[in-house]
Amino acid sequence: MRAVVYDTYGPPEVLHLEDVALPVPKEDDVLVKVHATTVNRLDVHTREANRSSGPVVSVLSRLVSGVRRPRQPILGSEFAGEVQAVGAAVTEFAVGDHVFGNSGLRFGAHAEFMCMRESARIARMPAGMSFQDAAPATDGALNALTCLTAADLRKGKTILIYGASGAIGTAGVQLARHFDADVTAVCTTKNLDLMRSLGADTVIDYTREDFTKNGHAYNVIFDAVGKLSFTQCIGSLEPGGLYLPTDGFGNLVRAMMPSRAGAKKVVFQIPPRQTKQDVAFLKELIEAGKYKPVIDRSYPLEDVIEATRYVETQQKTGNVVLTIKGG
Ligand SMILES: NC(=O)c1ccc[n+]([C@@H]2O[C@H](COP(=O)([O-])OP(=O)(O)OC[C@H]3O[C@@H](n4cnc5c(N)ncnc54)[C@H](OP(=O)(O)O)[C@@H]3O)[C@@H](O)[C@H]2O)c1
Repeated sequence: MRAVVYDTYGPPEVLHLEDVALPVPKEDDVLVKVHATTVNRLDVHTREANRSSGPVVSVLSRLVSGVRRPRQPILGSEFAGEVQAVGAAVTEFAVGDHVFGNSGLRFGAHAEFMCMRESARIARMPAGMSFQDAAPATDGALNALTCLTAADLRKGKTILIYGASGAIGTAGVQLARHFDADVTAVCTTKNLDLMRSLGADTVIDYTREDFTKNGHAYNVIFDAVGKLSFTQCIGSLEPGGLYLPTDGFGNLVRAMMPSRAGAKKVVFQIPPRQTKQDVAFLKELIEAGKYKPVIDRSYPLEDVIEATRYVETQQKTGNVVLTIKGG
């Protein structure tokens, strides 16, 4: 089968198309013929061994994905496709089912075929959804869900989402709305209408207004793009307010430190627990019309380097999809 492979950590140019062996499903595996996948920030960070986050994070990253070279040479965590074969113990899926999901750090989706354990983050595709629309449904949304679950959002709570136009942010706005919170979305001018269409109650253009100086305070500040710090946000949090980061070694450390009851604090779930039930939950939300992944651009698999360069601009709106011909 054809796959995008990388043998060494480095810039987007280390990615190349190669013919590799077809994966063979184990007893509890589903073999998926991948029709669409994405390039996301997890792919980008892993491919460069998190070098841009500094030496400590880079060493930790290599311990996870391979010290000298990547153990898994095929990136891609999100997928949508068709079940091609199932292992003998699989009961939930049958050949021909349309499925979507997320392989996380096991990756493997930038290929014509991939294996997923039946118990992993895989579900039947939402009714009426195309492969291209389903592929980007999980990465941003699972990351947002992990963070927002910790915040116990409900009616009467206020949340500010910074970086609301990214993969995590666009999902975060829709999920926070679903949880009935009052949502303020922060982004640039070109994305203000999109934020309103996703359900934000208030939008702030960060090129015109600094939310940390506008006198408002929130129960929760969700930094969906890793550009803020707890210190910057503390004055904009209500007493007992939570700062939810998506990134940053310092935030990890801070989240582990004990804090006084009722104090403002950093909440970072470690390790992020994302389950098959979470994917089923997203499927329900999609079918109920409450969540729709935002797609910025689509590229054929062959243009993975160009797609990756675009993701690395950190200016994508929502998600970048890769489509697989013949997949
Ligand atoms: N996706 C993952 O798998 C994953 C996993 C773990 C952690 N993370 C971390 O989570 C964060 C977000 O990931 P993502 O995939 O959602 O990002 P993303 O989609 O690449 O975010 C792009 C968006 O960020 C906004 N942005 C860029 N610079 C900004 C700035 N200075 N201030 C405010 N907004 C800015 C841009 O919107 P505007 O044009 O409106 O500014 C753009 O729409 C990153 O820090 C990433 O490292 C991601």
